[in-house]
Amino acid sequence: MSKKRVLSGMQPSGLLHLGNLLGALENWRKLQDQYECYYFIADWHALTTNYADTSKIRTHVNEMVIDWLSTGLDPEKVVLFKQSLVPEHAVLHLLLSMSTPLPWLERVPTYKEKMDQIQDREMNTYGFLGYPVLQAADILIYKAHFVPVGVDQLPHLELTREIGRRFDQLYGEIFPEPQPLMTEYPKLPGTDGRKMSKSYGNTINMSDSPEAITKKVMAMVTDPARVRRNDPGNPDVCPLFALDKIFAPKEWCDHVNVECRRAGIGCVDDKKELLKHLLAYLKPMQERRKELVDDPKRITDIIHEGSRKARVVAAQTLAEVNEAMKL
Ligand code: TRP
Repeated sequence: MSKKRVLSGMQPSGLLHLGNLLGALENWRKLQDQYECYYFIADWHALTTNYADTSKIRTHVNEMVIDWLSTGLDPEKVVLFKQSLVPEHAVLHLLLSMSTPLPWLERVPTYKEKMDQIQDREMNTYGFLGYPVLQAADILIYKAHFVPVGVDQLPHLELTREIGRRFDQLYGEIFPEPQPLMTEYPKLPGTDGRKMSKSYGNTINMSDSPEAITKKVMAMVTDPARVRRNDPGNPDVCPLFALDKIFAPKEWCDHVNVECRRAGIGCVDDKKELLKHLLAYLKPMQERRKELVDDPKRITDIIHEGSRKARVVAAQTLAEVNEAMKL
């Protein structure tokens, strides 16, 4: 019995943080035993917003693959590859672009949002508008059944189904309809209490040393109304408590939930306890990382080997597509 196929990708945007780890990578790792998984570095997608400055892209790719592998993603079980090493994605992107109506792309919510958000670069480009067509090609070329993504990616997945359906209507049944695999996980606050995000500079990174993590947690924002140790606090609005609920045992959370409200424990006590659990959780990943950082050849080999495997599948689908389109 053949396993169902899972595909997902990530743009190489730099060091990954706890939000990426809990929101995506933990899930990717769990899926590797149950499905035939393809995970890739979307370096062409990174160009849609950062085409002018490509100086950091290779560093980012390497850092990201080290982060991936350190979580326990196993290159023997999953196909890890880089989009730009599988040119078949670009060919399918071109073919799908022929039958994709422009208004479908213009109404994608991320299109307008990012366009308004990014002010320092010319964003009115052909490539940027075509972002979702490229993503559709990424998914359809592997005939993926499931795509693990966050809610923000649902419109892209919906569009992928529409693009695939249109192709099938025009040329014959080739593409199965990919379904999202949503990860439910609590929103992770950063050290300043806002959502953990690279652009806010409030992240705890997977690659941070235990010392760096200790510093960040000790400086973390707690209930802003709790100024002095004797002030009672409110765990419901405390970003530190949000992290407790993820990383600390339930007994500790129950304890904090009572004691904080009557100033029975201080924020520093809670920070120390959180650190104990957070560092223990990250320790196996940091150990795996140590073996990887000094071996750049191994990282390159894994990406090349994965890309070679991915190409076999992609080329097969492309041959079917060419046949269906009578090219
Ligand atoms: N758009 C995705 C993101 O920014 C990355 C991506 C590109 C992707 N191609 C994909 C995700 C295909 C899933 C499947 O996170």
